[in-house]
Amino acid sequence: MTTVALKDVTKVFPDGTVAVDNVSLDVADGEFMVLLGPSGCGKSTVLRMVAGLEDPSSGAIMLDGQLANQLPPRDRRIAMVFQDFALYPHMTVGENIGFPLRLSGIEPEPRAERVADVASALGIGDVLGRKPSQLSGGQRQRVAMGRAIVRRPGLFLMDEPLSNLDSGLRAELRAEISGLVRELGVSTVYVTHDQAEALTMADRVAIMRKGVLQDVGTPTQVYGKPATLYVAAFLGSPRMNLLEASVYVHLDRYVQLNLGEQSLYLKWDDIRARAVSHFHGERIVIGVRAEALTPVAPDTPGDVLQGRIRYLEHHGHESLAFVDIGATAVVVDEIGRSAAEAEEHGSRLRRFGHVINRMKGRSNGAATSVVERPSHRERESVLSDPGRHHRRAAELAVRLAPYPQIASGHPLSIAVRMDALHFFDERGDRIDVGWR
Ligand SMILES: Nc1ncnc2c1ncn2[C@@H]1O[C@H](COP(=O)(O)OP(=O)(O)OP(=O)(O)O)[C@@H](O)[C@H]1O
Ligand SMILES: [Mg+2]
Repeated sequence: MTTVALKDVTKVFPDGTVAVDNVSLDVADGEFMVLLGPSGCGKSTVLRMVAGLEDPSSGAIMLDGQLANQLPPRDRRIAMVFQDFALYPHMTVGENIGFPLRLSGIEPEPRAERVADVASALGIGDVLGRKPSQLSGGQRQRVAMGRAIVRRPGLFLMDEPLSNLDSGLRAELRAEISGLVRELGVSTVYVTHDQAEALTMADRVAIMRKGVLQDVGTPTQVYGKPATLYVAAFLGSPRMNLLEASVYVHLDRYVQLNLGEQSLYLKWDDIRARAVSHFHGERIVIGVRAEALTPVAPDTPGDVLQGRIRYLEHHGHESLAFVDIGATAVVVDEIGRSAAEAEEHGSRLRRFGHVINRMKGRSNGAATSVVERPSHRERESVLSDPGRHHRRAAELAVRLAPYPQIASGHPLSIAVRMDALHFFDERGDRIDVGWR
């Protein structure tokens, strides 16, 4: 099936909007790639460029290793499914599914055979004679899928195909769709702003923000090792707790992560201590997901934070306590920056690219190795720029058993799994020994 490669693809609309900013991305044969990001981040524009409905301003779109920038949409062996898919209301389900085959001149008999095959694969074999108005939302979506599949495309492009459906149906169909396209072995690019959809369906997820690709990886990789603060904040429910910390190195003993009123300690022999120790005397961001936090008895020794419950949220299968630990939260701005700011940010990133590359390339050297980093003045900071990421008192999300017999104001001791902490520098990039 078709492979896709975007190479440094940028799309600037005539009004100056930079919808897609220098994106490079590969989709392997038979891969299910999910493009994830908030509204307006450029997902549909990427998809439309792959389909040939929009020309890139610069960069290359490769299909099966061939430059496809000039290839007309009809020659791309692509099937698209949209959110607001339109079925022909005057045609039956069978006629709707068979329509693309009729257009390409396939005889009624083989056509009916293929329609029946596709319909039964989608579980709508018994409604072929009905009109779209006599179907449920889920059935209508299956018909739209059937119409896309029946042409046996080399590549599926799906743009939020489930977002018009209620949540139960969405969960059901997302399993069906990912199962079906894997069975067919068709490469797929699937657009959504729903992180649960992305994590459950994808072979790999590509996360975009303001036209810029932030991270690409398997669901386990992007969830477990997010490349940026933004990706960390975007994936997971409840959201990852992001705390401001100042770093103090106690040589040969530990790295102290001061959260305000209390500290966590990264042992010196922890492989991450070295990378974090470069930030001695500076502030960084610590990310900790709810699954790395466990309520414990008050006098439990070890990596334990003390706090007071601000409020509780009951979700039926679990309750969440939001706990004040006297720390400062870093709030990632979802709305993002303006195009001009993004451009400025981009040029700064390029300017510092060599520094990052040097850091990427460095081996596990001695803890004393000096890494050249730009000065404070030059660097964009997520910690001190209130317009971009603002700060407030942290409310640490902690999972509790459903409907616990405690109320807000109650003190809580929380054990922290130190190996599950994430570290980000003040620009929001992951601090890690093994840069991906
Ligand atoms: N024809 C156009 N002219 C100018 N700007 C456009 C045009 N089409 C899209 N844009 C802008 O490009 C940016 C990316 O749009 P796009 O439709 O790709 O976003 P999206 O990620 O699909 O968002 P959503 O989740 O809301 O569908 C947005 O800022 C949008 O306003
Ligand atoms: Mg869109």
